[in-house]
Amino acid sequence: MSDNLNVFHIMKTARPMRRLKSDPVPQALLEEILDAASCAPNSLNTQPYRFLVVRDHASKAFFGERYDAAMQPRFSPMVTDPNDRSPTARNVRTALALGKRLKDVPVLLFICGKRDWPMGVPAAKRRGLAPPSYGSVFPCVQNILLGCRAKGLGASLTTMHQVFEAELCEKLQIPDTYGIVAVLPIGYPEGNFGPVTRKPSTDLTYLDLWGIAPES
Ligand SMILES: Cc1cc2nc3c(=O)[nH]c(=O)nc-3n(C[C@H](O)[C@H](O)[C@H](O)COP(=O)(O)O)c2cc1C
Repeated sequence: MSDNLNVFHIMKTARPMRRLKSDPVPQALLEEILDAASCAPNSLNTQPYRFLVVRDHASKAFFGERYDAAMQPRFSPMVTDPNDRSPTARNVRTALALGKRLKDVPVLLFICGKRDWPMGVPAAKRRGLAPPSYGSVFPCVQNILLGCRAKGLGASLTTMHQVFEAELCEKLQIPDTYGIVAVLPIGYPEGNFGPVTRKPSTDLTYLDLWGIAPES
C-alpha cells in the first residue's frame, strides 16, 4: 500500500476493490473511518444516516445469494463474448464476480438513510414510502470510500440491494422509516490500489452556457 495520503492521490486511486482477504477488519478502525465520514455535509445537520455493520456469516451469505441472483440476469448479457477485453466488459465481469465472494467478505456495511420526501414532491403526490435522503447520505458514503482507501482497506459501492430490499430489511430488522442507500463490502484488498480511469473534467465542463467549452 502506498503511504501517500495526499487527498488528491487518495481520490485518484480509490478504485473499487472487490477481491478482499478474509482477515478481520477491526471495529475500532471502522469506527475511526465512520467518525470522520460522518463529518460530511448533510441537511440541517440532522445526520439522517445510520450504519449497520454486518459480520454475521449467515446474513452475508443471504445477501450474497440474493445480490448474485439480481446481478446475473441484468449484467451477464453485456459480456457474452469471452474475448471482449474492453474496459466496460472488464468492469462488468469484475462486478459480476463480486456476488459469489460476498459471503466471505469480513464486513458488509449497510448505509441507511432516513426516509423523507424531497421538497420538490408536493404533499398531494406523496404516496407510499418516501425515499431515503440520498442527498444527505451520499457525501458520507463517498467519505467512507475515501477513508477506507486511506487506511488501506478495500471497498466498493453497491446498490443492487434495491432489487430485494424489502426482504433484506425484514431479515436485518431495518425499520421502514429508513431505506438502504448503499452496501459496501469492506476488507483488506487482495490486489493493489491503482489509478482509476476517467475522462478529463474538461470533457465534462461548460462555461457560462451549457455546451460552451471553457478555454484553457
Ligand atoms: C450509484 C452507484 C451504484 C453502483 N452499484 C454497483 C453495484 O451494485 N455493484 C458493483 O460491483 N459496483 C457498483 N458500482 C460501482 C461502479 O460500477 C464502479 O464505480 C464503476 O464501474 C467504475 O469502476 P472503476 O472505478 O474500476 O473504473 C456503483 C457505482 C455507483 C456510483
